[in-house]
Amino acid sequence: MVREEILQALLRVEAGENTLEEVLNRKMKNKQDQGLYREILKGIYRHLITIDYFIHSFLKKKNQKLHLPIQMILRMSFYQWMYLDKIPAHAIVYEGVELAKKVGHRGSVGFVNAILRKATAQKLDPEALHFNSLEEEIHIKYSLPVEWTRYFIKNYGEDWTLDFAKNSVKIPDLHLRVNTNKISSQDLKNSLKKEGINLVDLKGVCQGLEVLEGNIFETEEFKQDLFYVQDKAAMMVAEFALEKEEMIERVLDVCGAPGGKSIGMSFLNPDLEIFCCDVTKEKVDKIKENLHRLDLNQVKALKRDGRNLSPRERDAFDLVLLDAPCSGLGLLRRKPEIKYNRTLKDMKSLVKLQRQLLDTSSQCVKPGGKLVYSTCTLSKEDNEMMLEDFLIHHKDFDLLDQKVLNLNEETDGFKMFKLVKKC
Ligand SMILES: C[S@@+](CC[C@H](N)C(=O)[O-])C[C@H]1O[C@@H](n2cnc3c(N)ncnc32)[C@H](O)[C@@H]1O
Repeated sequence: MVREEILQALLRVEAGENTLEEVLNRKMKNKQDQGLYREILKGIYRHLITIDYFIHSFLKKKNQKLHLPIQMILRMSFYQWMYLDKIPAHAIVYEGVELAKKVGHRGSVGFVNAILRKATAQKLDPEALHFNSLEEEIHIKYSLPVEWTRYFIKNYGEDWTLDFAKNSVKIPDLHLRVNTNKISSQDLKNSLKKEGINLVDLKGVCQGLEVLEGNIFETEEFKQDLFYVQDKAAMMVAEFALEKEEMIERVLDVCGAPGGKSIGMSFLNPDLEIFCCDVTKEKVDKIKENLHRLDLNQVKALKRDGRNLSPRERDAFDLVLLDAPCSGLGLLRRKPEIKYNRTLKDMKSLVKLQRQLLDTSSQCVKPGGKLVYSTCTLSKEDNEMMLEDFLIHHKDFDLLDQKVLNLNEETDGFKMFKLVKKC
């Protein structure tokens, strides 16, 4: 049953009817099925290029086109055989063939049966493959599209790109920020321990915890919103923005949905008056929902286009945070679909929007106030080059500080910059 759901979800994603995120949000009655559904779907997109490479190695003709449902059945089956240890070969073949009976004709059932029998009779190990170049190795072994592989090699070199690609296919740890409005970090740890959840403090962030063991989503503490799930890197943007800042009262979060950075800043300093904005009603509703859940009354959610300035916003904020829309390549561990959906061309078109947002945001900062610019991507166009260009055209700003978090075992990839507006 769950495999049929996975097949339907894959077909909807491939047809462009739903995004991966949308199909992943599907709720199932059985928790175990839900876990497997999510794991297989996300895993397939994490390793898509590698899986397709192996599937093609079993086909008679090079570049053979497969009937879409049959291709999806093979992707699911190969993923399970290559990346999950608990599912035996006979179960993978049986399930694959049963699915093929539902969506294919007799010939395709035989085809699936033959390929899966051959494939599951051996170990399919990407580590054992040999490549002609490191570029090819990164592309196939770590499922990084050629365009991004070349882009990163050109900008950061082969070693950096290899490291980035290796980390981009890992399953991220689960981090959470304690809702200090409702509970202290120690009390939350003690209380979750009684439910079998093992947590440790996250180094480098206040009130951040890492889950070592247990399902936090099934706990009473989750239902009571005693914490907010967020990667350490995203938490660090809020820390970076408020670090060494004692005089801040009013904050504008320009691109705020779903509210992660505003929530983080508010937990760090509950006295701040924060305006958390985004451009569409749906996005603002999402912010409101999160704020309501966490009881954060000191944060206000507003619909606002960050490119437009109203006169009362000029020089009005002690801190303006622009967590800009970007190519998102620092998030590949949790959103693997990004690497296939975003292109270099998309990235270049976002630069124009980022430049406009940065220019308008800078006008909202009080003299002596701070402007923080952050992205969850690692490309230079969205980051260093954007800032260089901004500083050339805005002589009233100085760069105070910057931090780069590479995508690695500990965090998503983020870059952040703090500027001060001269008095
Ligand atoms: C990186 S996300 C923000 C994540 C958010 N800061 C958080 O921590 O949860 C970028 C956001 O920019 C928003 N955005 C895009 N264009 C915008 C515009 N013209 N004005 C305001 N927000 C915009 C998008 O809707 C998206 O929610």
